[in-house]
Amino acid sequence: MVTASAPGKLYLFGEHAVVYGEPAVAAAIDRRATVTVEARDDDHLRVDSEDLTLDGFTVEYGRAAEEDPDVDVSESLIEAATGYVDAAVEQARDAADAPEAGFDVTIESEIPLGAGLSSSAAVTVAAIYAATRELGVELTPGEVAERAYRVEYEVQEGNASRTDTFCSATGGAVRVEGEDRESLDAPELPLVVGFDGGAGDTGALVAGVRDLKDTYDFAADTVDVVGDLARRGEEVLLDGDLEELGDLMDFNHGLLSALGVSSRSLDAMVWAARDAGALGAKLTGAGGGGCVVALDETEETETALRYLPGCEEVFRAALDTEGVRIE
Ligand code: PMV
Repeated sequence: MVTASAPGKLYLFGEHAVVYGEPAVAAAIDRRATVTVEARDDDHLRVDSEDLTLDGFTVEYGRAAEEDPDVDVSESLIEAATGYVDAAVEQARDAADAPEAGFDVTIESEIPLGAGLSSSAAVTVAAIYAATRELGVELTPGEVAERAYRVEYEVQEGNASRTDTFCSATGGAVRVEGEDRESLDAPELPLVVGFDGGAGDTGALVAGVRDLKDTYDFAADTVDVVGDLARRGEEVLLDGDLEELGDLMDFNHGLLSALGVSSRSLDAMVWAARDAGALGAKLTGAGGGGCVVALDETEETETALRYLPGCEEVFRAALDTEGVRIE
């Protein structure tokens, strides 16, 4: 039996534009998904999930297509929860050259699902790491990141960048641009996360931005400007200039809003943070609902968000420099 964990992450700059080859800057945070894997003596998968967003459930199924999961929850929920695990296990089987391997998989996550904090990447990274170890193969974080990216690419039907999986596998702050991935030597940041309790549909949101970009030159220009912001944001992050970092986050949120991926509740949280004196605030991830990230060294933003109707959860997040690890 092997247990591995991997961190969630948030985007400081560049979500959506990164899908079109622009740079993005993201930071791993101290909220992790933990996956325990135990080899079975048949080729079945049994997935037990316990996390913040889903009520716990257990599902067991065989490898043959006709062996559907036998469980009393909706199909879309099962697909969402098991799609990544399924594909992650396939990657582990491939890496270990053990196509018939079966596993009992237990997932515990502190990361809200589909809320812009990369819960799926963290689960995928931890699952690949644990399952390969269980089969006697030791992958580097870079190899895990690459295999996890293939999983996201497949499950999200091509709508995935390498940011989430690389950041979750390596930890710390990262810059991703196309196939280039780099760890950044970032200072500790006073991050506050607000969560509206909802989730966005990443595929639909990415498709919406693509449509706008294909229809209007000014939307394509907006995507390019998000890339410029991420380039500047990287420099400012490395300099540790929090004031300017906040200004750039505000700007990035405005552009994401123009691209149609914010929402009333995300805007409300962003404005509550700004009114409370945050240095800057923006949505993180695909948008549509989920989380915002604000920069504030004081308690003011946390207090303001805590009392904001529509904000379900508030927490302070620290940069997590440790990526995937065995527990
Ligand atoms: O919501 P998340 O954390 O899955 O982020 C999605 C960010 C996008 O740029 C829209 C897609 C991607 O994979 O980079």
